[in-house]
Amino acid sequence: MIRKPKKLIVANWKMNVTKEEEAEGLFLSIKNVVNKLEYTKVVCCPPHMYVNQVARHVDHRNYRVGGQDAYPEESGSRTGETSVLMMKNAGAEYIILGHSERRHLETKSDVARKVTAVLEHDMVPIICVGEEQRDRNWKKALTQQLKDVFNRVPKKNPENIIIAYEPIWAISGEKKNPATSTEYMEALDVIKKELKKIFKTSTAVDKIRFLYGGSLDDKNIEEFLKNAEVDGFLVGRVSHDPRILMTMFRLVEDHMQREMFPIKEEE
Ligand code: 13P
Repeated sequence: MIRKPKKLIVANWKMNVTKEEEAEGLFLSIKNVVNKLEYTKVVCCPPHMYVNQVARHVDHRNYRVGGQDAYPEESGSRTGETSVLMMKNAGAEYIILGHSERRHLETKSDVARKVTAVLEHDMVPIICVGEEQRDRNWKKALTQQLKDVFNRVPKKNPENIIIAYEPIWAISGEKKNPATSTEYMEALDVIKKELKKIFKTSTAVDKIRFLYGGSLDDKNIEEFLKNAEVDGFLVGRVSHDPRILMTMFRLVEDHMQREMFPIKEEE
């Protein structure tokens, strides 16, 4: 029997939480529900300065903490930076990297160095890729982003790698404009083909997990669950709304139950 992993919901709080009590309250507000989910795992990614406070409350495999970025060197004269090691020591196990909202602040090789450092610390990088527009060059833009990262990163432990397809045109616009499940599947096809070339094997690529992100909420998550091959979701705007999150968890759980996943994941 094939053991199916849980769906992963990554809550990228971005800069939308501004007080420690708020961060802690938000994390705790869904904790009891998350700890009981059978088919869903949740990773909350608070702003750096609240990671430690929030991570103190982690006591279940279902509910973990991540960071929104991290500096690749462990320590040293780097004013204002927070290292991967510091994030790990604070309790983060995942790090979002290469987010489109940060790419103007970092070079391609910065992103690759960060991914390498996160993997070296046995943490999980959530690497964001996505084209700016669905124009005639979108596939090329997407494959270039993958080459920029993976041609510079050790090809070990693909099971620790998560790639989030987040088309820039779908993220946090004033008007919600999520990709369709068909657009996501087209992108996934492009991504997997390129990764197979880079990793030179499909076995490694089969171990990588793929998420969708961009204007995702309780109204459109089912479309992806039903029609797309997706290991989970990266959510922004609704990631600090417990009511919407809990509806999304329920939709994932119901979907997975309907799919008759016979074995619950043990970690
Ligand atoms: P939205 O869900 O607000 O579109 O943001 C997606 C995102 O950027 C998650 O990292």
